[in-house]
Amino acid sequence: MTTLLTHLDIDRPILAAPMAGGASTPALVTATARAGGLGFLAGGYKSAQALAGQIHTVESEGVPFGVNLFARNPIPVPPKAYQDYARLLQNEADRYGLTLSDTAPLDDDDHWADKIALLVAHPVPWVSFTFGIPDAGTVTSLRRAGTTVLQCVTTPAEARLAVDAGVDALIVQGPAAGGHSATLTPERPVTSIALPDLVTAVRHTVALPVIATGGIATPADVAAVLQAGAQAAMVGTVLLRTDESGASAPHKAALADPDFDTTVITRAFTGRPARALRNHFTDRYSAHAPAGYPALHHLTSPLRKAATAAGDTDLIHLWAGTGFRQARTEPVAHTAERLTGRL
Ligand SMILES: Cc1cc2nc3c(=O)[nH]c(=O)nc-3n(C[C@H](O)[C@H](O)[C@H](O)COP(=O)(O)O)c2cc1C
Repeated sequence: MTTLLTHLDIDRPILAAPMAGGASTPALVTATARAGGLGFLAGGYKSAQALAGQIHTVESEGVPFGVNLFARNPIPVPPKAYQDYARLLQNEADRYGLTLSDTAPLDDDDHWADKIALLVAHPVPWVSFTFGIPDAGTVTSLRRAGTTVLQCVTTPAEARLAVDAGVDALIVQGPAAGGHSATLTPERPVTSIALPDLVTAVRHTVALPVIATGGIATPADVAAVLQAGAQAAMVGTVLLRTDESGASAPHKAALADPDFDTTVITRAFTGRPARALRNHFTDRYSAHAPAGYPALHHLTSPLRKAATAAGDTDLIHLWAGTGFRQARTEPVAHTAERLTGRL
């Protein structure tokens, strides 16, 4: 089991989670590697070309890194439920002079084939998947190209499916995680379990090496998952306010604002469960939002962009894990040192 860490070739068992939407910059990935850990670029929501540009930037720094993709696992939404939700949100969109889509729900595969073709033709050391599990043929192509393939899972049953697909290792995500849940069954409620217990349960079920993620924000959290047998801790939220993070200014500010004091799991923003700071949007719309991904993501995207540009935290998806109070304005290297210095 030490093979993964040796293979990771890192000095500290700390990984920077991929964070799509802007937070995971090449600078954050490079700084994590320089601090002795390993960082992941977020390929989600990007074209293959944009991803290739970020890969090039990190490669030119000469550090190891990974790339994360959203694997296809759409949640269809009935057109009527979608249109009712669009109508409900129009009230908020009026503040920004926007008309929310009253057309059919949008589907897309987030440029899946192009990004896989890029990663096969231009292999990177690590690739991780979330939302769905790629078919075994895709996993084989990446592994043949020399890439180590990781799958994000949230239950022992999902871990078994990842083993069947032939991945090298697992990222075990607990329910305290910020941002989208990696669940393969997003229409079901996310079950509550402490991360070390989830790591233990997965390790009792499958033999693959495990990286733990979700709510890790203190040295004690890191120690607890290593104690449970994880080979490394992957952190997201605790990096959001770092100097190298590309999170938006209102997002960074909200994480430190005493007015935001709790997180909730909601599908109100994207139609897929995700943990965010509780705000006006989560309070008002969580109970009304149908499951439906990526349709709801596309529906609310213009509203969230306008709100972010205006600094209107009532309407922004303020992704955050439960450890958000530990996110500090500092270089990534300091966060990595703080979390693992005494190990
Ligand atoms: C802003 C944000 C964006 C995220 N985007 C992605 C992503 O693109 N791909 C992914 O696999 N996980 C994503 N996640 C989840 C992280 O990979 C990880 O599971 C989570 O951050 C761990 O919990 P923590 O935030 O409490 O550290 C995101 C999390 C956050 C906070």
